[in-house]
Amino acid sequence: MARLDKIYLGTNTKMYKTIADTVDYLMGLNAFTAEVPRSRLELFVIPSFTTLDAARRCIPAVKISLGAQNMGWEDEGQFTGEISPLMLKEVGVKIVEIGHSERRHVLGETDLQENKKVLCALRHGFTPLLCIGETAEQKELGVSDEILCMQLKIGLHGVIPEQAKNLWVAYEPVWAIGVNGVPATKEYADEKHAVIRQTLVELFGYEVGSDIPILYGGSVNRDNAEELIQMPNIDGLFIGRSAWNAASFSEIIQAVMPLFFARKKSFKSLI
Ligand code: PGA
Repeated sequence: MARLDKIYLGTNTKMYKTIADTVDYLMGLNAFTAEVPRSRLELFVIPSFTTLDAARRCIPAVKISLGAQNMGWEDEGQFTGEISPLMLKEVGVKIVEIGHSERRHVLGETDLQENKKVLCALRHGFTPLLCIGETAEQKELGVSDEILCMQLKIGLHGVIPEQAKNLWVAYEPVWAIGVNGVPATKEYADEKHAVIRQTLVELFGYEVGSDIPILYGGSVNRDNAEELIQMPNIDGLFIGRSAWNAASFSEIIQAVMPLFFARKKSFKSLI
C-alpha cells in the first residue's frame, strides 16, 4: 500500500504533560479512536522523554505511534543532556522529531545539526519527522521557497532514496506556531507543500519523493483543520495546543478523515 493512502495526524506535547497526564491522555485518545481503522490513519503522539516508557506500556504501538521530540546524533558519549538513539529504541519509539521550530529558533539548532540527526535516526531505523519552515522575516523578504529548499537539501544531505522511504516532513511556518501564531491560509500552506514536494522529488526521484508524507503544522484547530486537509498537497496535520485534550483531538480526527478520503477519491477519478 502506498504510504499516502492513509492520513497522518499527530501531536507534539512539547514541555507539557507529566507521566500521569500523558498516560491519561493516551488512554483517552485510544478509546475515542478505537473504531478508526489504522490502515487509514497513522495516529502519533510525541510526548516528553520521561513519559515514553509508561506511554509505550499503556497503548499498543499499532494504535498510536510514539515519537521523541529530539535526539542526539551519537550512540553514546560525553554529551550531557542529550538522549541517545539506543535509549529511544529501548522504550519503543518509532518517530524522531527533528528540527522543530523551537529547537531551531529558541535553542539555536542548525540545518547541519538536523542533518546529523536525520542520518542517525535513519541508521537506527526510526522514522525521522523533519520539521521545516520560514520565519516571518524570511516570508516578508520573499525567500520562503528558497528557505524551505535549503532546509530540505541540507537537512536531508546524504540520505539515499531507499532511506527516504522512511521519512516524514512537517511544514511548520515559524510565524504560525504557538499562542502568538497566525495559522497559514489553506492556499499558502498548499503552495508551500507543493514546493516541498517538488524538492523531495528532485532529491529522491518521482517514485520515492512523491510518496513522502508532508504534514502541515502551526495553529491547526477545530476551525481550520477541515479546510486544510482538503488541499491536494497536504497529507496530514501536526497539531499542538488543539490536540492536547483527547476528546478535542478525536473530534478533529473524526471531522477531517471523511474529507481527506473524499478528496482522494475525487482526485483519483480525475486521473
Ligand atoms: P500549535 O503548535 O498547533 O500549538 O501552533 C504546533 C507545533 O509546534 O508543532
